[in-house]
Amino acid sequence: MRILLLTHSFNSLAQRLYVELSARGHELSIEFDVNDEVSLEAVELFQPELIIAPFLKRALPEAIWGRYLTWIVHPGIEGDRGPSSLDWAIQEGETEWGVTLLQANGEMDAGDIWATATFPLRAARKSSIYRHEVTEAALRCVFEALGKLGDPSFKPRPLDYARPGVRGRLRPLMKQENRRIDWASDSTTTILARIRAADGTPGVLDHLAGRDWYLFDAHPESALRGEPGALLGRREGAILRATRDGALWLGQLKEKRADGLALKLPATFALGEAAAALPELALPAEGKGNETYRDIYYQEADGVGMLSFDFYNGAMSTRQCQRLVEALRAAKERPTRVLLLLGGADFWSNGIHLNTIEASGYGADESWANINAMDDLTLEILSTSRQWTLAAMRGNAGAGGVFLALAADQVYAAPGVVLNPHYKSMGNLYGSEYWTYLLPRRVGWERARAIMSHRLPIGAAEAAALGLIDGVLGRDRVDFAQRIQAYAAGLAASITLDGRLAVKREHRANDETAKPLATYRAEELERMRLNFYGFDPSYHVARYNFVYNVPYSRTPLHLAKHRRLGWRVPGETVAQERLAG
Ligand code: COA
Repeated sequence: MRILLLTHSFNSLAQRLYVELSARGHELSIEFDVNDEVSLEAVELFQPELIIAPFLKRALPEAIWGRYLTWIVHPGIEGDRGPSSLDWAIQEGETEWGVTLLQANGEMDAGDIWATATFPLRAARKSSIYRHEVTEAALRCVFEALGKLGDPSFKPRPLDYARPGVRGRLRPLMKQENRRIDWASDSTTTILARIRAADGTPGVLDHLAGRDWYLFDAHPESALRGEPGALLGRREGAILRATRDGALWLGQLKEKRADGLALKLPATFALGEAAAALPELALPAEGKGNETYRDIYYQEADGVGMLSFDFYNGAMSTRQCQRLVEALRAAKERPTRVLLLLGGADFWSNGIHLNTIEASGYGADESWANINAMDDLTLEILSTSRQWTLAAMRGNAGAGGVFLALAADQVYAAPGVVLNPHYKSMGNLYGSEYWTYLLPRRVGWERARAIMSHRLPIGAAEAAALGLIDGVLGRDRVDFAQRIQAYAAGLAASITLDGRLAVKREHRANDETAKPLATYRAEELERMRLNFYGFDPSYHVARYNFVYNVPYSRTPLHLAKHRRLGWRVPGETVAQERLAG
């Protein structure tokens, strides 16, 4: 089918739909819902058989839904309506939530229902629930509904609150007054739920060190205590704040400013001197059930060293890269033979930290420092000679983050992972992280060029078929985590591993003789120097637009197939007939 994804932005859900629907042979194009006129123009150009709207911020005009079958993905259970569905569900401690696929009509979220799917609501932040449970449930709904399209006897059912099992209701936009925290009287559980419900956006507005901040990225602390509301200390980028019955780590802050020009930043970076004055709190000794904050974590089991690096949004600042290099060096000193690199639970890595770069005030210099730190990290993985390295992508990866994984000896991904192995969307950035060595050695130069220039997301299965990664493991991400650990343990115990390690060292030595890694790096960095310090400001402009969430005024042509030169509408369509009938 010819399917148009009409969406506010090409977010993770829209990308996953794009990947899964394309893999099933559908013809996809994407249009950002900028305004009625532009969206209508797109629809007329593409003449879709079906429109799917995964992420909208406004109601669509009748000129679209009245003429084209349009499905809206609503992140709520049947009957739920309103713009803050997940926020209410998380904040109010729902144990089960869901997704409903509605046919667009004149009333927001009240269209006829094509499919619904539910899931247990994990205790996690909103953005994580959206990227995992909501996305999986949305896919289930879309595929169920696509199946029903071919059934002429099927009619989507109207929303009926009298129907047994319809628990949802119309909820208003959640405002800051609904999110407010009283540190003196609210429990840790309440505060944690509030910050989790607001994560991603908009955060919980609060007052800290004399200024107003939106809070994000809260983690419970089970050992330390203090005067409710007091700041107790800092660790890595986070600060610890006492509650009446415990304490919470706050990882990210965004200042409330009249002009709205504020960035979400690691809390210690955002607070500056106020955070520097706090005591540095060392990690406690390991204890069962101990909850605390750590972004880099090393463990060993069954002869396998496991290193996870759970950086918020997968963004890796200069300092985080340097700390990770130290952790990697320590892991490489251990008498293990397999090193499992686990990335983060939500993202493997999204490359250099564009927010800390922007906030540094020295965009070019800090970009340079950050890309060099990423390169050092990639090199540290590449130069692991005594251990077999495995990259386990539990979550999505973008730009330099993908190439970081390719530095490992083998790369596996969980099903559902979406990769964006390209830099160009960030203002024509050339990219580094040794990609000119790592990508062609896996897929050849022709494919490497195509991947880099198409700038489209690639699903894990497609990535495996292309040879970009070695495979997809497990039924879901929980199963993936178990399987990759079992695989790593099997390797560590295998009698053939020494042989494999010897071959790897030989290959590396041969490659080094053919062209030293330092040359690849120098060539890439020469191009990056132009991106950062040259006359073309595209990268700095693109970074600014990205970190300040400047909305698109048009859809980039690599996404909007219908706007490309030479696009022609094929013949009559199925869904238009359905709608007419
Ligand atoms: N630096 C800082 N923040 C980043 C980031 C980066 N490299 N990559 C992603 N983020 C942040 C986003 O700003 C967003 O922040 P939010 O908490 O305010 O929502 C969050 O991570 C999620 O990103 P989003 O774009 O909504 O996720 P997605 O799954 O829809 O898209 C990507 C994933 C990778 C396509 C997209 O985030 C991207 O293009 N990132 C930039 C990659 C890049 O150019 N890196 C630098 C070059 S090495």
